[in-house]
Amino acid sequence: MSAGIIGIGKYSPDRIVTNKDLEKMMDTSDEWIRTRTGIEERRIAADDIDTSDMACEAAKEALHDAGVLPEEIDLVMVATVTPDQPFPTVSCILQDRLGCRNAAAMDLSAACAGFMYGMITAKQFIETGSYKNILVVGTEKLSKITDWSDRNTAVLFGDGAGAVVIGTVSEGRGILSFELGADGSGGKFLYQDQYIRMNGREVFKFAVRKMGDASENVIEKAGLTKEDVDFLIPHQANIRIMEASRERLELPDEKMSKTIQKYGNTSSASIPLSLYDDLKAGKIKDDDVVVMVGFGGGLTWGAIALKWGK
Ligand code: ACO
Repeated sequence: MSAGIIGIGKYSPDRIVTNKDLEKMMDTSDEWIRTRTGIEERRIAADDIDTSDMACEAAKEALHDAGVLPEEIDLVMVATVTPDQPFPTVSCILQDRLGCRNAAAMDLSAACAGFMYGMITAKQFIETGSYKNILVVGTEKLSKITDWSDRNTAVLFGDGAGAVVIGTVSEGRGILSFELGADGSGGKFLYQDQYIRMNGREVFKFAVRKMGDASENVIEKAGLTKEDVDFLIPHQANIRIMEASRERLELPDEKMSKTIQKYGNTSSASIPLSLYDDLKAGKIKDDDVVVMVGFGGGLTWGAIALKWGK
């Protein structure tokens, strides 16, 4: 039995904050942000919209897209580092609001690699035949843990949510291989006290190394070579990190997802948001081999190779 994506949805807040807007709030410049990060603008959720609200909108669309009823969902899994509160979890809030009355529910915390951890966990339940349909959501309201007086971090983050339904797909399609990893000794480089704190240079070095290694590993584990890869969706944290991953896979520019310019870094939401936009733009077609790779605070990382299609 192969596990794959059978439906997708997203939510992106209406409010756009541009680099020029940030210039008015702190000692930074549009030029610095663009050249160092690739970010041009980010979406920031309204005060009365929390992490679960964004997740709910993305999840509704994913269920509709999959043609799966809420009561047919066996497990709701939400990757987030910005839950509404520690408990009840965002996944329990969703389970209730969506009417997934037959589903178990759990939140998963692996920072920006959270969506990869969620997809790979879902794959195990589907392929063992334990569950049929699993909702996996990456959702973040990072604006509420951003220190708006710290230019080192404030320019980087945005809010949003992406959701997929994982179910069975035809043989040869779906998630072909995966890698998950963690290095807790690097926890000091990226953490939250009240706000996000980061040693940008250390995270940068880690990300370039791990994103490249993990991408190559999943390609090899799937019995494929770099030439077989049609599209790369890296976690959207910094354009220079993303470019390094693309170069490791020897892919041309148009074969890499790029949404960082409009969303900034949305942590666990970044990969599903990108996948959604790339699908709508017709960049991914049935039977394309897609590599997704993420890294985040913890430190954590995760990658999958998948063959697109049901
Ligand atoms: N505007 C203007 N200048 C700035 C800004 C800013 N917003 N931020 C930093 N600077 C300055 C610094 O103070 C420094 O000045 P100095 O040389 O006078 O000391 C200079 O710019 C260079 O700073 P660096 O930190 O060396 O810049 P770098 O090229 O490394 O870029 C960045 C910084 C963008 C943060 C980069 O290191 C990076 O992207 N790292 C990875 C970040 C990441 O991926 N984080 C993931 C977090 S996701 C999660 O898990 C929630």
